[in-house]
Amino acid sequence: MIKAITDRVSWVGKVDWELRRFHGEEYSTHHGSSYNAYLVRGEKTALIETVWSPFAGEFVENLARAGVLDTIDFLVANHAEPDHSGAMPELLRARPGLPVYCTANGVKSLKGTYHQDWDFRVVKTGDTLDLGAGLTLTFVEAPMLHWPDTMFCYLSGENILFSNDAFGQHLATETLFNDTVDQCELFQEAIKYYANILTPFSKLVTKKINDVLALQLPVSMICPSHGVIWRKDPLSIVEAYLKWADDYQEDQAVVVYDSMWNATRLMGEAIAQGMREARPSMTVKCLNAAKGDVNDLITEVFKSKAVVVGSPTFNRGILRSIAAMLEEMRGLGFKKKKGAAFGSYGWSGESVKMIEEALTGAGIDLAAPGIKLAWQPDGSGLDQCLDFGRNLAAKLS
Ligand code: FEO
Repeated sequence: MIKAITDRVSWVGKVDWELRRFHGEEYSTHHGSSYNAYLVRGEKTALIETVWSPFAGEFVENLARAGVLDTIDFLVANHAEPDHSGAMPELLRARPGLPVYCTANGVKSLKGTYHQDWDFRVVKTGDTLDLGAGLTLTFVEAPMLHWPDTMFCYLSGENILFSNDAFGQHLATETLFNDTVDQCELFQEAIKYYANILTPFSKLVTKKINDVLALQLPVSMICPSHGVIWRKDPLSIVEAYLKWADDYQEDQAVVVYDSMWNATRLMGEAIAQGMREARPSMTVKCLNAAKGDVNDLITEVFKSKAVVVGSPTFNRGILRSIAAMLEEMRGLGFKKKKGAAFGSYGWSGESVKMIEEALTGAGIDLAAPGIKLAWQPDGSGLDQCLDFGRNLAAKLS
């Protein structure tokens, strides 16, 4: 399927309505996704990106059926991850010898993945590819946004930034543009994408965006490789990224727990209630990690100024849903967030200490020593939890 974006630029990707997990089983995609590829036609034709390998056959067939497969002069591979490069083997079997424009790290990743000696043309920031008819692609390396090989390219003549994963979202849509989709779904998927994928690279996000803004290039559209094309107010997503990259937080706290016989749940709910009492204007969410989706939980942590984590002690440790969330938090490296731990126990009671160690290891500042209660909390135990929540909230700026 070819969809015109302008007279000379078309979308030729794949909308994947069925996708529910991405990166193996790591990332939930409640609204599907898309693998956006673009065809730019001047006197010469460039294909920017391909699609994930399950759709390689139909991708190449669609290009052939539209009569454009044999007109492609250049393939631009902004990023080698298989969701974008997966159809390269099929494409290059159909079009052997097609030059592949990518970064030096792109060559390493593509060779390491496909073991093919394609006609790689290594590009650096500032290199250009003239397509004729007033269209020129300028390449901009963007290492670690989010892989070492990543680059963007800017199409002068149409003023379009092809940003690969940056500014993307896992959101399936046939209508392509940001002004044609549900705005709540779009915002939620965009912030979830940032929180779960780009958080570790926030400093680089800020620097790269400021470098590109300093060039004062006109931008009529931003075309990422997943989700919508930003056509209406395209810089709005750039401004959102600058905000998210700046240790983003809302006036929100999240209490995340897992529970076996409800003791830790009761503690969590009392702590959350105490926090609400002390700061009625603050949003306080109380979420069961085992019942929720870890990527959605991480998005709530991303939005929060404080994260309070609870688990009962189980086999001298913590429950696995909490362990998984803490490991995600460690890898993402959130900054400037406060935290605390709580949990019930029967006899040994290690969980609170273990959670505190994990929070500290994830870069979270402990706002108060944790609270642990033996067996089921009674009225006095719940009062302690209420006080714990009130005191915690009072320490948040
Ligand atoms: Fe959409 Fe990093 O791949």
